Amino acid sequence: MSAVWSATVLTLFPDMFPGPLAFSLSGRGLAQGLWRLEAVDIRAYATDRHQSVDDTPFGGGAGMVLRPDVVAAAVDDARSRGAAGPLVYLTPRGLPLTQREVEAFAAGPGLLLLCGRYEGVDQRVIERRGFLERSIGDFVLSGGEIAAMAVIDACVRLLPGIVGDRRSLEEESFASGLLEYPHYTRPQVWEGVSVPEVLLSGDHQAIRRWRRQQALATTRARRPDLLKEVFRETTTGPPRAGAMSGAQP
Ligand code: ADE
Repeated sequence: MSAVWSATVLTLFPDMFPGPLAFSLSGRGLAQGLWRLEAVDIRAYATDRHQSVDDTPFGGGAGMVLRPDVVAAAVDDARSRGAAGPLVYLTPRGLPLTQREVEAFAAGPGLLLLCGRYEGVDQRVIERRGFLERSIGDFVLSGGEIAAMAVIDACVRLLPGIVGDRRSLEEESFASGLLEYPHYTRPQVWEGVSVPEVLLSGDHQAIRRWRRQQALATTRARRPDLLKEVFRETTTGPPRAGAMSGAQP
């Protein structure tokens, strides 16, 4: 087993990786060996002389479907070379990925991610190999690669040594189950608009209270579904750190 968290990506476009993951926090961590990335070309597992990885859908319809035998060969080979962690197939049909699940993924040994192209992947290999099907939002990308990068980025920034000041992880959106409060910096007055007075007061308790109110109000306006979740937890179990302090339904 690899000592560091590792992402193995099965894709028809391995050259897309590391792409944006080579920059910023994830890029520095990758260069420092704090996590590992391997992009595997699914086409290398084709067995016919045309190197075909996909075929027309049974039942008819548009587009092409990735073959189960080719995908399975790529998965099994990655496993035999030590790729550990859950298998995740990125698809708009999947359950929505949550920060909770990202935290669980980051706490494990890594991920094996499958990027679909064309119409999709034969459902039998999804089920036989036990893939989790996950979506990164209610919109359709032209393939799973950008979604895989998003998932990897979300995990990697939670690994030890990637984000310098871990307080920023605790305060950000979703960490408490709420959307984050708004931020302000210099200049104090810009285009005639001043920053909120309370932030200049030096009263840390008042600032904390104001930020919590802002987080609640924004969540109520934009994502009432999240608010329901936060309050549900207070009756069914312990709240997440900071989620409920001062907030009454
Ligand atoms: N592939 C295409 N669209 C996607 C989405 N919204 N989430 C995850 N994978 C995808």
